[in-house]
Amino acid sequence: MNLPIVLQDVSVRYRLPKERVHSFKEFIIKSFKGHMEYEEFWALKNITFQVPPGEMLGIVGRNGAGKSTLLKLIARVMKPTRGTVRVPGKVAPMIELGGGFDHELSGRENVYLLGSILGISRREMDKKFDAISEFTELEDFMETPLRAYSSGMITRLGFAVVIAVDPEIMILDEVLAVGDTAFQEKCHAHIAKFRQAGGTILFVSHSLDQILKFCDRALWLERGEIRSWGDTPGVVRQYENFLGSVAD
Ligand SMILES: Nc1ncnc2c1ncn2[C@@H]1O[C@H](COP(=O)(O)OP(=O)(O)OP(=O)(O)O)[C@@H](O)[C@H]1O
Ligand SMILES: [Mg+2]
Repeated sequence: MNLPIVLQDVSVRYRLPKERVHSFKEFIIKSFKGHMEYEEFWALKNITFQVPPGEMLGIVGRNGAGKSTLLKLIARVMKPTRGTVRVPGKVAPMIELGGGFDHELSGRENVYLLGSILGISRREMDKKFDAISEFTELEDFMETPLRAYSSGMITRLGFAVVIAVDPEIMILDEVLAVGDTAFQEKCHAHIAKFRQAGGTILFVSHSLDQILKFCDRALWLERGEIRSWGDTPGVVRQYENFLGSVAD
């Protein structure tokens, strides 16, 4: 049965310590005595929306608007402070560049590492590895440590592992932008195939052209709140008008 992703009245609060603590011991003592003071910050406020299965939702908004926080909830990396998040299906997130990777390990070791985080056993990965390596076109770099990779190369590796997980829901946070044109086209072809098979995608991008080109629907976040949600051209137009007005 195919169910939508549902967020119902979701809010997320981050807490930042107001004063600097100089050691873990001091932190424990102050916390224990109730002496730690926090600055509270609501990164998301009363967010309600749904994503039907098979749709691609584009999320736009300025830096710090709450886009990555929203994706982390859907990726089950964090829980909301309030409200409910329902995500039916296997999720493969690509939240930030190189997230889940260890830069001291080789490309090959990182494929196994990220795979294990996403639920692929070593034995399964043995079978998938060659296809992943071929998709990246980085066969000659598989034994090279990741710190010697460019950001585009890291993206290639991450995307190849994420699709190898064979997810039902894919989360792409501003990751395709660093790939070169050839690789972007390869990703887009793969995304089209994934969608034909009924996959759902959440896509964050500052490239409004890409949002317009790929997304069925769009959601605009501003300071943790939904400013607009609905058909892509309408939402993008409103967001562009807003960007124009704050730039004046
Ligand atoms: N772990 C954290 N602790 C405290 N505050 C955080 C934390 N993570 C994010 N924030 C704050 O929450 C807000 C939303 O951050 P988020 O990363 O979701 O924004 P974003 O829309 O993805 O921005 P960008 O376009 O720059 O990627 C920001 O003000 C940020 O400073
Ligand atoms: Mg972000």
